[in-house]
Amino acid sequence: MVGYRLMGRAHSHAYRDFPFYFDSDTIPVLQAVAGRDEEGVKAAADKMGWASWETDWRRLIEREDIDLIDIVTPNNTHAEIVIAAAEAGKHVFCEKPLALSLDQAKQMLEAVKKAGVTHMVCHNYRFSPAVQFAKKLIEEGRLGKIYHIRATFLQDWLMDPDFPLIWRLRKEVSGGGTLGDLGAHIIDLARFLVGEFSEVVGMMETFIKKRPLGSMTDNLKGRIESDQRGEVTVDDATAFLAHFENGALGTFESSRFSRGNRAGNRFEINGEKGSLRWDMENLNNLQVYLADDEPGLQGFRTINCTEEEHPYAGSYWPSGHILGYEHTFINIVSELMNGISQGYSPQPNFEDGVKNQAVLEAVEESVQTRSWVGVSEKVHVLS
Ligand SMILES: NC(=O)c1ccc[n+]([C@@H]2O[C@H](COP(=O)([O-])OP(=O)(O)OC[C@H]3O[C@@H](n4cnc5c(N)ncnc54)[C@H](O)[C@@H]3O)[C@@H](O)[C@H]2O)c1
Repeated sequence: MVGYRLMGRAHSHAYRDFPFYFDSDTIPVLQAVAGRDEEGVKAAADKMGWASWETDWRRLIEREDIDLIDIVTPNNTHAEIVIAAAEAGKHVFCEKPLALSLDQAKQMLEAVKKAGVTHMVCHNYRFSPAVQFAKKLIEEGRLGKIYHIRATFLQDWLMDPDFPLIWRLRKEVSGGGTLGDLGAHIIDLARFLVGEFSEVVGMMETFIKKRPLGSMTDNLKGRIESDQRGEVTVDDATAFLAHFENGALGTFESSRFSRGNRAGNRFEINGEKGSLRWDMENLNNLQVYLADDEPGLQGFRTINCTEEEHPYAGSYWPSGHILGYEHTFINIVSELMNGISQGYSPQPNFEDGVKNQAVLEAVEESVQTRSWVGVSEKVHVLS
């Protein structure tokens, strides 16, 4: 694993917990973690249970006792590490957004395909049992034709104008602001549940233009390191509208300036025969409305998706014994392990990463040109 902070903890925990809950021919071994700071990486290895550590990720790629490279570093490092890992024949699991740009994402896809290695991008929210159950209901046709998705991912941890200029606020490191960070997740959920985007139009704002220089610590916290201020080069908030190839309409909003919303990752989907609602802060529950319920009894019902009938839930605890954020990572790791051992491409893979990046790029382009921008043509080379 390269990097060891917020996502490093989530992934390490998932590798360790996976064999507790899932039977598999392929069990992850926490062989080595890489970071640039010797003291930091050593402490992280000890705490999270990695057998060894390196101060340069290139050493992981050279090592013959490593089969899978997991990338949990800032977005500007993803492409170089993925391409080097693939060329060395290692499987890759990469955090989202896949890349800094669509072109870069396509190069990464080409590299993993050429090398024939397993590739997966960490859109973990797909793996909440309630979201998987939503997918099942849609696939069974219970909602009929889908007309709408409205999705948000709203946070408020950046509202203090003195919060430092961390890597997430510098375009050359992150590739984008809330759109690439939070928007990428709801774009993935929309692609998973509704289908492919055909065109988008958006707007963006950077509310605080300059911030004190500093760096990220952990759990979305920062440390001021200078009296000087630097320019914020990404969006603090983005909203966009979308047409889907199947005729559905979408509205999307990502923001770090939505006071009171800590992780407001939510969607509502409306179809001709029913509707679904999900909220990450209450992630076990799926709200379901079915139009053919008896008149007088119609309304949204709340389903606690912890029954054996709900995807992944049966691997854990008895019904009603709820799951949390970390289980979405254990579930995605189970898919990754199955893909590696059974030789299929687990999803979301880098093709999904490229399609996601195409939406991100189209929204940015639409903001610059103040017009609708097509998504389908950006990814047509894949088909
Ligand atoms: N799936 C999710 O829900 C989710 C949530 C948060 C972040 N992310 C993604 O995960 C990735 C990491 O985010 P984070 O929040 O863990 O960041 P973080 O700032 O908490 O941690 C980044 C880690 O990368 C290390 N690092 C930076 N440059 C490096 C380099 N060149 N070589 C080796 N290590 C380097 C840092 O020292 C640190 O350990 C990003 O791509 C981010 O978008 C995904």
